[in-house]
Amino acid sequence: MTDLMPLLGYDYIEFYVGNARQAAHYYRTAYGFDVVAYAGPEHGVRDRCSYVLQQGNIRFVMTAGLLPDSEIVRHAALHGDGVKDVAFAVPDAEEAFRVAVERGAEPYLEPWVEEDEHGKIVKSAIKAYGETIHTFVDRTNYSGVFMPGYKPTQHQVPAQPAGLTLVDHVVCNVDLGDMDKWANYYADIMGFTQLHHFNDEQISTEFTALMSKVLWDGTGRIKMPINEPAEGKKKSQIEEYLDYYQTAGVQHMALATDDIVETVRHMRQAGVRFLTTPRTYYDELRDRLDWSTIDANLDQLAELGILVDQDDEGYLLQIFTKSVQDRPTVFYEIIERHGSRGFGIGNFQALFEAIERDQEARGNL
Ligand code: FE2
Repeated sequence: MTDLMPLLGYDYIEFYVGNARQAAHYYRTAYGFDVVAYAGPEHGVRDRCSYVLQQGNIRFVMTAGLLPDSEIVRHAALHGDGVKDVAFAVPDAEEAFRVAVERGAEPYLEPWVEEDEHGKIVKSAIKAYGETIHTFVDRTNYSGVFMPGYKPTQHQVPAQPAGLTLVDHVVCNVDLGDMDKWANYYADIMGFTQLHHFNDEQISTEFTALMSKVLWDGTGRIKMPINEPAEGKKKSQIEEYLDYYQTAGVQHMALATDDIVETVRHMRQAGVRFLTTPRTYYDELRDRLDWSTIDANLDQLAELGILVDQDDEGYLLQIFTKSVQDRPTVFYEIIERHGSRGFGIGNFQALFEAIERDQEARGNL
């Protein structure tokens, strides 16, 4: 069987923000990203400033518009800081675009070549949920720092890396009733298959519920869980997101580490705030899991608030940050996997109760 839409991995994730300079500083000091490249008026880009951040194989781009009539400024005003582009590295950006559009994707950018002294980049893009896009990037013949137009940054204070290695998965929230539509989008257009399906009976608390489907590319390089709100007694966290983001969009990105204890310690010291886990969660965990196969110290996990889940294939350690902007929209998960390909379903209850405590504090429950 041939793969009609080969994806090599996440190439970059681009955020549209109100102030890219300060966002870059936050990801450097709090998350340990190096600021490796910049594009802006100094290099002939008139309408925007973009900072490229790198840690391990993770690449983020923070972009802000410079003038009120900018599309980027409009995006940031409507949605707050958020993800505009989940870009995939591909072997052929023209072919990826042709196949995607033939299978029903809405075009965003026709195949486009950019060149400089370091070679050429071919890119194209299609629309996805909300205002989010997927750019296809072929950088086979490019050796520069990021893309033409970007220059390596100078005089940057180097980051203290937090040990983050790669993007494990990117989760979106979509409107009530739209989960299947977007699951089909990834199945039909990208050839993804369904890895998991969680219904509202599995993911619910006394107050709120959600449903989730996880689509993946079959290799594990790309995993895209899709959440939709479900009927509950009170407003669900997904609805709260949709109210503030004003449309479907990226809810959280999971960043992998090989040593979650060190990573979380580092991030906590740098000021990153995580959801809190009650002590009772750890008491219950001692009995619920088979600890003979888990190489972790429960007291250390409890001290840092790290969650554990186990399935037939292994286990995973995970923790969730609070929102990283003023609106209760985008947040992060830090994850260390040991065989498990799951998403921590055993932790959903504890996690949602923690989210609801924060939602209640904001007056949105
Ligand atoms: Fe996740």
